[in-house]
Amino acid sequence: MKKSIYLDNAASAPILDDVVEVMADALRTLNGNPSSTHKFGRKAKAAIEQSRKTIAGCLNASIGEIFFTSGGTEANNTALHCAVDQLGVTRLIISSIEHPSIINTANYIATHQGIEVVQLTVNEHGLIHIDELKNLLEGSNQKTLVSIMHANNEIGTIQPVDQIGVLCQEHGALFHTDAVQTIGHLPFDVSTRPISFLSASGHKFHGPKGIGFLYVNSDNIIEPYIQGGSQERNVRAGTENVAGIVGMAKALSHCYEHMSEKSDYVKELRSYLIEQLRVKLPQIELVSYASSDDCLFTIVNFHIPSSAKSDLLLMNLDIAGIAASGGSACSSGAEKPSHVIEAIGNYSENGKCVRFSMSFMNTKAELDRVVDALTKYV
Ligand SMILES: Cc1ncc(COP(=O)(O)O)c(C=O)c1O
Repeated sequence: MKKSIYLDNAASAPILDDVVEVMADALRTLNGNPSSTHKFGRKAKAAIEQSRKTIAGCLNASIGEIFFTSGGTEANNTALHCAVDQLGVTRLIISSIEHPSIINTANYIATHQGIEVVQLTVNEHGLIHIDELKNLLEGSNQKTLVSIMHANNEIGTIQPVDQIGVLCQEHGALFHTDAVQTIGHLPFDVSTRPISFLSASGHKFHGPKGIGFLYVNSDNIIEPYIQGGSQERNVRAGTENVAGIVGMAKALSHCYEHMSEKSDYVKELRSYLIEQLRVKLPQIELVSYASSDDCLFTIVNFHIPSSAKSDLLLMNLDIAGIAASGGSACSSGAEKPSHVIEAIGNYSENGKCVRFSMSFMNTKAELDRVVDALTKYV
């Protein structure tokens, strides 16, 4: 039986062995509650603070600007809710291809709190139109939070976060970026960027699931979104996920240590897959930007034209031991194209989009097998 091929790293990247080891050690030895004042509690607390220091160091943030959450979803919810409830925001500007943890949260706030939500349109590759944002910011004095993701999780498009940040600063708007797909893969220096909030998630950079963090620029003082005890300097209540925090910090420091060699390697894999498919299956269309300057190098999305075989493509790939993702959500048993695919064009009419998301753990030989399988099923 052939080895399985995992190309769904944007959904969850396999945890590193080193991370499992530090987490196992934390689970065994850090038994105290970090809020307890005895030595067991202090030891757990010290491990959390050391992890916070590591993570803050990677982003060039201050230690006091990093708050641990249960993942990217909670970090995104916290940023949006706190901006509206506590920082006077009356308008949210998001893009039409944000993750559901932004779109659904914004829509919830609009419904329940009467806040205006504007969705920016995107081009055929998912890039926002910066002039549309500029016009919106220039055209109103409303206190605004702009929330635009760093890279899209389905098609990989990298948004111009530096330009967006500067525009927001010029117009007195707050800026949040959902950097769940990029942290650990692309460097991000918060000290040189006008940014109010940033969300990240451990399992997207080979750390554990169920842990993430929110960066909150020290200019913005927020109160707890989740009520309870005074953990996380009274910003996020609940006993900390000590092993998760320690594991996430280990994963992030590993990614930073090896960032350039690993990104070069994965960029080459991505170009190789694009080139092989261009030559061998020209009917398959590249949906993502080809260049890794415009698209996160871990993600590539293709449109597969409709045929009797290709309609069952993901299932056939799965049977062949290849894990990819359809970029579609299943509702009432019927597969429908995702909001991202719908926002960028008319792809769903005559076929479907497939996302392959890679890591340094993949090889060219695996991609050869993927191309062979596609040749068979498309
Ligand atoms: C862009 C983006 N934002 C947020 C999330 C949610 O993160 P988590 O799974 O940690 O809740 C994801 C997860 O797929 C994502 O890709």
